Amino acid sequence: MQDILDQLAGKRAAARAGGGPRRVEAQHAKGKLTARERLEILLDEGSFEEWDMFVEHRSSEFGMAEQKTPGDGVVTGWGTINGRLVFVFSQDFTVFGGSLSEAHAEKICKIMDHAMKVGAPVIGLNDSGGARIQEGVASLGGYAEVFQRNVVASGVIPQISLIMGPCAGGAVYSPAMTDFIFMVKDSSYMFVTGPDVVKTVTHETVTHEELGGALTHTSKSGVADLAFENDVAALLQTRRFVDFLPSSNRQAPPTRRTEDSPDRIEPALDTLVPANPNKPYDMKELIAKVVDDRDFFEVASDFARNIIVGFGRIEGATVGIVANQPMVLAGCLDIDSSKKAARFVRFCDCFNIPLVTFVDVPGFLPGTAQEFGGIIKHGAKLLFAYAEATVPKVTVITRKAYGGAYDVMASKHLRGDVNYAWPSAEIAVMGPKGAVEIIFRGDLGDPRKVEERTEEYRRRFANPFVAASRGYIDDVIMPSATRPRLARSLAMLRGKKLENPWKKHANIPL
Ligand code: HXC
Repeated sequence: MQDILDQLAGKRAAARAGGGPRRVEAQHAKGKLTARERLEILLDEGSFEEWDMFVEHRSSEFGMAEQKTPGDGVVTGWGTINGRLVFVFSQDFTVFGGSLSEAHAEKICKIMDHAMKVGAPVIGLNDSGGARIQEGVASLGGYAEVFQRNVVASGVIPQISLIMGPCAGGAVYSPAMTDFIFMVKDSSYMFVTGPDVVKTVTHETVTHEELGGALTHTSKSGVADLAFENDVAALLQTRRFVDFLPSSNRQAPPTRRTEDSPDRIEPALDTLVPANPNKPYDMKELIAKVVDDRDFFEVASDFARNIIVGFGRIEGATVGIVANQPMVLAGCLDIDSSKKAARFVRFCDCFNIPLVTFVDVPGFLPGTAQEFGGIIKHGAKLLFAYAEATVPKVTVITRKAYGGAYDVMASKHLRGDVNYAWPSAEIAVMGPKGAVEIIFRGDLGDPRKVEERTEEYRRRFANPFVAASRGYIDDVIMPSATRPRLARSLAMLRGKKLENPWKKHANIPL
């Protein structure tokens, strides 16, 4: 018996040692934590239950039979975050550079399968040199097994990827299919082909960081949602983030006790919208003042900043917030903002998270870049996402809601449940200036007449009452009372039941 116990202790020690002190030191020297140190920060203290610590690779090529480390470069299992169950895998760069062998992939698949069975999120900490080169096609098969599970799990359990080191080649496609990607600045990168291949093929000279670093993906490509300063910040923010999410599509979002009264009036909101309709204001001020305890978790904050998406709580329950940002591109919808918001709306709909939409949108962004880039197809994504969503939808138009963008932004016609407008709302086919230029073209030579016509149009249409007179707006509310009105609407909608007709799946314009 003692033999076995010694053997057990020895194997555990070997697994915990990973690639040994020299490689652990090298990991630390890069400003990175080890796979296990990361899990200690991510999970509640003492909650981690490790599985498959003794799994080893089965390859014998290139002297691999003699090089085995228990666990084979990935730490897997489950634990809790603020008491709620999550499944995790954490790639260990100190063991074969965290590269993915067949056995390594099987470990990840095992926890994904269990997470789906019991209904709990999977959080993947990625730090890997990609396919285990010595294993060849067995490793590629392993990746594909993970990909298949990413897809089956999509919309069933939340999947979150943290990129905390290299993530290159086909390996990027597992994180790409998860719901959210968080990266660490300066120590992580993602690309399909690295700088050397890029140089050979396109003759471009580019660094790892420029090609696929955290700033590139959070601001240019939109592949990643957030970038954090270091491992610790990324892990602590992930803990905060998970608190907003339901564990699976079978569960309601979690609620958190709050002292913040749902009846709180915010007088400052009555003066948020400037008198001049062309002057911007910060939509984030409205969001902060409306959610519980000013606690708003914004995602994709550096990409397509003309639209804001993120999670907050009202009366303790999670809501997904989508809001046009008048400070950037006047809040216009364009290709990037449509894609960003559409994916967010669909995430919320998958996971029973009610949607609160704040609208101040002058329309779709004009221009050849947008048209050639396919704004028709990409704008349709957001329209499609809102129209198919069956979760409670509450909309507040703060100022402009013009043209097709009015329809898109969770309007009554797309099964908006409660649609409010502030008194400053302007809901019409287009703004006064553009309208006069078209319908009073004959008067354009006379500036006095143009001014008169513009004023007439503004009086007649640039207000919330035409839409309200048709019931497209349920009420015109005082801005200061936005939080109480939202809280009551969301409480009323708690029992909402709405289903789309049976289908295999819809065909969203991709
Ligand atoms: C096996 C690997 C490995 C890999 C790294 N290592 N990548 N072992 N398979 N893919 C090992 C190294 O041999 C080394 O072992 C240790 O990990 C650390 O690697 P270093 O190169 O010393 O580290 P560093 O200088 O930090 O560079 C990291 C790296 C580099 C940039 C990731 O290792 C690298 O370029 N690796 C190859 C990446 C790659 O081409 N992967 C295949 C991509 S294609 P020792 O014993 O010295 O510590 C792919 C396809 C997936 O992934 C397809 C899915 C469909």
